[in-house]
Amino acid sequence: MAALPLPLASATPSSQSHPVFSKPSYFITHAKRSNRLRVSCTDSRNVETPLGKVDRRNMLLGLGGGLYGAANLISSPGALAEPVSPPQLDKCGLSTYNTNKGVKMEVPCCPPSSETITKYKLPPVTQMKIRPAAQNLTPEYIYKYNKAIECMKQLQKDHPEDPRGFMQQANIHCAYCNGAYTYDTKPGKDPFTLQVHNSWLFFPFHRWYLYFYERILGELIGDPTFALPFWNWDNPKGMYIPEYFLDCRSALHDCKRNPDNLKAVVDLGFTGSKNPDQVVTNNLSIVYNEMVAANADAYGFMGKPYCQGSNEKESGPGSVERGSHTAVHVFVGDPREPAGEDLGNFYSAGRDPLFFCHHSNVDRMWTLWQYYLPSDQIPDKRITSRDFLEASFLFYNEKAELVRVTVEDCLDNRSMGYDFEQCDLPWLDYRPPAQTATAKVIRSRKTAPNAETVFPLNLDKIVRVLVSKTKKGKADELLVIENITVDTTKFLKFDVFVNDEDDDLTDLDKAAYAGTYAQVPHKSGKKTNTTSISLKLTNLYNRMDVEDDDTVLVTLVPRHKGEGVTIGGIKIIENPTPVKTANSSG
Ligand code: C2O
Repeated sequence: MAALPLPLASATPSSQSHPVFSKPSYFITHAKRSNRLRVSCTDSRNVETPLGKVDRRNMLLGLGGGLYGAANLISSPGALAEPVSPPQLDKCGLSTYNTNKGVKMEVPCCPPSSETITKYKLPPVTQMKIRPAAQNLTPEYIYKYNKAIECMKQLQKDHPEDPRGFMQQANIHCAYCNGAYTYDTKPGKDPFTLQVHNSWLFFPFHRWYLYFYERILGELIGDPTFALPFWNWDNPKGMYIPEYFLDCRSALHDCKRNPDNLKAVVDLGFTGSKNPDQVVTNNLSIVYNEMVAANADAYGFMGKPYCQGSNEKESGPGSVERGSHTAVHVFVGDPREPAGEDLGNFYSAGRDPLFFCHHSNVDRMWTLWQYYLPSDQIPDKRITSRDFLEASFLFYNEKAELVRVTVEDCLDNRSMGYDFEQCDLPWLDYRPPAQTATAKVIRSRKTAPNAETVFPLNLDKIVRVLVSKTKKGKADELLVIENITVDTTKFLKFDVFVNDEDDDLTDLDKAAYAGTYAQVPHKSGKKTNTTSISLKLTNLYNRMDVEDDDTVLVTLVPRHKGEGVTIGGIKIIENPTPVKTANSSG
């Protein structure tokens, strides 16, 4: 196991320095007693807006009539290669999911409708909100955060139809992610069901979702500067559930969490390692892999294209979405619950306040990738397709007005008025140790069939195959795992190793670790998705001896139990988007 890397000396230290794994101080009760602190819910009569017009029963059912102007103006549904248009709320249906036992469940998650939809205009930024690292919150901040969530829960009790209430906010995720929005298509075509995961919509959708959630919290406590903390699970100082989420007297508490993981080190790898130090180094290796090493182009990070009428089968999740993001969901979700509630299934994930703290960090990972990724890794990080930029969603803002937002308007967090507390990025130049000279000898003794002879196969145990390189040595190549077909109702994960030299596959902090595929359960039925992933091998070759090899040994290690994934094939191709180095570009 590699030694724990030290935080970068150059990074700005956070306001409090916690030794690794120290717990944050815990003061909610104390803070409540303090006279200095007066945060209360604003009077909901002052903040309630246009809902009076719509029959309440209809709103609860998501049936409120009206003009769905924005939705109607955009696109003929079903056509390929058009940006995703906002859902028609009056056509919102039931969401579905499967229990762990395979029973199909239906659940109503629709928001109220509204007669007016306005295109959202980002307000001018007068004061940058700074989202703090969750482990660094002051007692006052914890108190305020707790109070804001309490207000949101109170609003739900007092006005269940208010779209800013706690369950209404949670249900946004359920509706967008578990199949509530189906669009009519041309006769003879399958209806198109909107899904905001598994594609390039993942980061933008969740950014907007948190943006309004944060503004609503600010509105409810009368503090427009309120900023949503981020769960800093990419840093050893933040690799546990922040303690103030665990007190059952707090609004931040949720009973539906895995009791074994409440105080455990976050495990982004699910390798089965019981050694907390190993879990920490695995985590850093995973984040380094998905942020820096594994992606050859912007889609590798952001996710693949997904358009109006697209079949989800044509898209696929980016590296962080399928990797650390999925892991945190499943780490927290309660395996005793029928469908891994709350965080372990998309339909219920938003019911745990920790979801938003987790996604605040997911959002931060996007900004870090945009602004910190070393420039020698990806040739171009921008996606300029109109199908991406013009994709749009609907949300209720902090005044309970229904607004339409576009991907284009959320690409720069600072123009949206928020930024993140600067923290160490111990994964940024994390390099797993190079393979030793004997590794090559050891792996040459392993016998493995050629990839062409074994696929397709059901990945229910470890598989080792030989794959041909495009040319000998340290070529700029991608490993492509094709036609990964997954059962969307299950948690599934497998790790990919190239030229692994030992059989202890619980360690991910090694040169041979090439990447991960994983998903959070969401849809119902035995619906399947098919996708492929491409993993850049360049960084990995630099840490092992492949000089005169014309094949590599690829190992696929499933981390879930049982069936659910089939793999169509594995091949190695030349990197189609090589990075020009400083030398070659002159
Ligand atoms: Cu929309 Cu982390 O999920």
